[in-house]
Amino acid sequence: MSFRTIDGLDVRGKRVLVRADLNVPMADGKVTDTTRIARQAPTIRELAEKGARVIVLSHFDRPKGKVVPSMSLRSVAAPLAIHVGRAVAFAGDTIGAEAKAAIAALQDGEVLLLENTRFHAEEEKNDETFSRALAALGDLYVNDAFSSAHRAHASTEGVARYLPNAAGRSMQAELEHLERALANPRRPLMAVVGGAKVSSKIDLLQNLVSKVQTLVIGGAMANTFLAAEGKNVGKSLHEPDLLDTARNVIRMAKTQGAAILLPVDVVVAKDFKPGAAHRTVPVDQIGADEMALDVGPASIAAFTAALAGTRTLVWNGPFGAFETPPFDAGTVAAARAVAAATRAGNLLSVAGGGDTVAALAHSGVENDFSYVSTAGGAFLEWLEGKELPGVEALKA
Ligand code: 3PG
Ligand code: MG
Repeated sequence: MSFRTIDGLDVRGKRVLVRADLNVPMADGKVTDTTRIARQAPTIRELAEKGARVIVLSHFDRPKGKVVPSMSLRSVAAPLAIHVGRAVAFAGDTIGAEAKAAIAALQDGEVLLLENTRFHAEEEKNDETFSRALAALGDLYVNDAFSSAHRAHASTEGVARYLPNAAGRSMQAELEHLERALANPRRPLMAVVGGAKVSSKIDLLQNLVSKVQTLVIGGAMANTFLAAEGKNVGKSLHEPDLLDTARNVIRMAKTQGAAILLPVDVVVAKDFKPGAAHRTVPVDQIGADEMALDVGPASIAAFTAALAGTRTLVWNGPFGAFETPPFDAGTVAAARAVAAATRAGNLLSVAGGGDTVAALAHSGVENDFSYVSTAGGAFLEWLEGKELPGVEALKA
């Protein structure tokens, strides 16, 4: 893959626009999870250390083109400063008089955060005039926001047309790991796809099945596959409209010589609540009034056995209802098996998307995978084989 990095930029004394993704969880005006801030800080710090005047751009939440005070980035400046290790000034607008004055006052090595780009409707429209207005604020553009790269917005795509640009360190790390995991993997390659719905992952399943040696399906979407194979799934969450889609994925796997690993046993309950009475049954013995909420130990044993020869693994989505113990056991056991194989040096493991990071954190192994992406939608679109506009804009 050919994209520029900040190694190729001469930044001293330059105004460098850094598109970060500071769309972080917040409650009562306080940041509740700083994972993304920690990932974005190194690029900002490096540029500041090299004498750049760093101007940070980001969206926050979905204000739909209006100024929504509760979606201001103001409260992100202090936590960002802690992670960058330098003061971070804040401007209360994005391309207005306050931003321009603050930029004019910046000294080499100083950092400024601008207000939420999505307070302007032109941002999501990728409006040319707005993109040019953003570009006019800086001399160089660095995109470090892989998790926003599936959006063709002014601050992620449009602005790159008007300034010399490069990928930041976090963007670079995401792209390098995804490349090693999917484009150029050591084989055998395994993908784990879990989560609730086949319907939201049709493109992803069809793309992965053409790339991997083994596709492991977990979560409620496995129920749809079991139903497609004629199993009675009782009250389990599943998508009756998607049985043909599931059969098609199974057919594609056969044609391509990929193995599909479905659960062979499941943990079932009549109620879905913490600590609910439950039992483990083979997948053809789910009662009419029962629902599958997790995979069972035989399924985990089969997964672990398949993992033994695997060299590269891509993981998206949990195996069961991991937020509701005891239905977290399958996800925890599988995540720990991957972590152990990775620690032993046998496996390159890359995880990302939606609930996945929370599931790994719950399993206590989020630092034991080779790489955990902070991206949700962008990671999924990558797994679907789609081009990401924010990445394409950086290509040489
Ligand atoms: C995310 O959190 O997924 C990214 O910041 C993108 O946000 P969006 O889904 O609102 O575009
Ligand atoms: Mg999103």
